[in-house]
Amino acid sequence: MNTVAVVGTQWGDEGKGKIIDLLARDADIVVRFQGGNNAAHTIVVDGEKFILRLVPAGALHPGKVCVIGNGAVVDPLALLGEIDDLKKRRGFNPKNLMLSYEAHMVMPYHRAIDRAREARAGKRAIGTTGFGIGPAYEDKMARTGLRFDDLSNFKLFEDRLRRNVTEKNAYLKAVLKAKPINGAQIVEAMKRERRHLLPYLCDTGEYLASAIADGKRVLFEGAHGTMLDIDHGTYPYVTSSNCIASGAFSGTGLGPHSLEAVLGISKGYTTRVGAGPFPTEISGYLADSLREEGGEFGSATGRPRRIGWYDAVLGRLSARVNGLWGLAVTKLDVLTGIDPIKICVGYQFKGKRYETVPLGRHSIEASKPIFEELPGWTEHLSDARQLSDLPANTRRYVDRIAELVGVQVAMVGVGADREATIVVKNPFTP
Ligand code: GDP
Ligand code: IMO
Ligand code: MG
Repeated sequence: MNTVAVVGTQWGDEGKGKIIDLLARDADIVVRFQGGNNAAHTIVVDGEKFILRLVPAGALHPGKVCVIGNGAVVDPLALLGEIDDLKKRRGFNPKNLMLSYEAHMVMPYHRAIDRAREARAGKRAIGTTGFGIGPAYEDKMARTGLRFDDLSNFKLFEDRLRRNVTEKNAYLKAVLKAKPINGAQIVEAMKRERRHLLPYLCDTGEYLASAIADGKRVLFEGAHGTMLDIDHGTYPYVTSSNCIASGAFSGTGLGPHSLEAVLGISKGYTTRVGAGPFPTEISGYLADSLREEGGEFGSATGRPRRIGWYDAVLGRLSARVNGLWGLAVTKLDVLTGIDPIKICVGYQFKGKRYETVPLGRHSIEASKPIFEELPGWTEHLSDARQLSDLPANTRRYVDRIAELVGVQVAMVGVGADREATIVVKNPFTP
């Protein structure tokens, strides 16, 4: 197959970055299609750690083309900072990066609004990353957002920017009781950085369409996870974009026929950063030790991640909304020594058993997980490179996940390093 998408099946941080980096070896182009620098994709190459926020995770392979599609919201200064860092640390060639001129900009007033709202929300806070992602998508939908193509006429761009700043400052002061932001500083910064941004702009949809027609291999990089999807996630405790596979179409300008396989990434357990329902959540010693062992602290904000067992009900939801071809089950090495291991196989809601999420927004919160217990293992897994290297109980656990979700396991993660992966089936060369 030539066109493959990678999506998160849980609440993000499933290990998408590592798998995208691995698959990027076989791809020509890697394209981000939604979200912004609320994403943090960690990749470990030869022991060195890279965290990519906006630049697609193909950037660590020389010569791969990295595209940021129209569906993303991009903080221009954060992008330039990330490019500089990749140039210094990895010799990244900026000529390999393309940015859709239709992508929207995240501006300092978006961050200010995001943070002020969260600060005022108290117990109702979503626990956002604070990078202004929600407010930027709000402006996109309100048709007041600034797009990168606006930079081609700076006078017009400045007019729109000043109009937005006036409006946002009124809102910040009167409603959110927060400090206004300095519009002149934004204008100056954009005037200064404009010439650094313009060379990246292009019609990325046209570029991708002709690359696919020429037989090039394209990897679509999803950010966040299905349960954070604006439509299908645990609303309102979600992010503000469609992070499921269908976002790859509206977020790049291609049609559904342009995607042949969707690989869903699932941790062998579950984590969540921020507030919202989490039926299989656990606390106490076990949660603490999984958090330590798995390094479960948010790469974007450093917050400790909440921990829970694998949830096959949500796995099935994810399989449906993404049309999953395969699963990559990551971080199995972290489960070494845990015995028994639990899997949520169904939900109990109002006295009834459900195999899928019961109807209604509050049902997830009120659902009790029905667990099945599987025997654990004590062996270290990091050197396993094929399924037959895994202990029998690890294989049984992986097989049970595949069976419950109804999707084949294509990859298994046994460590953070690029190489620490069992590739059962590579979607580019199945
Ligand atoms: P992403 O946002 O989905 O790309 O995931 P993050 O990078 O935010 O979080 C996943 C974390 O787990 C990162 O620190 C990865 O280096 C690490 N990781 C990924 N796969 C594995 C694995 O199979 N085993 C272990 N131990 N760590 C992994
Ligand atoms: P990656 O791509 C984990 C969560 C936030 C918060 C909610 C809304 O690294 O998997 P936002 O700032 O997007 O408005 O916050 O979404 N969130 C993530 N959690 N990984 C992510 O990305 C996330 N992106 C957003 O913690 O609960
Ligand atoms: Mg992450």
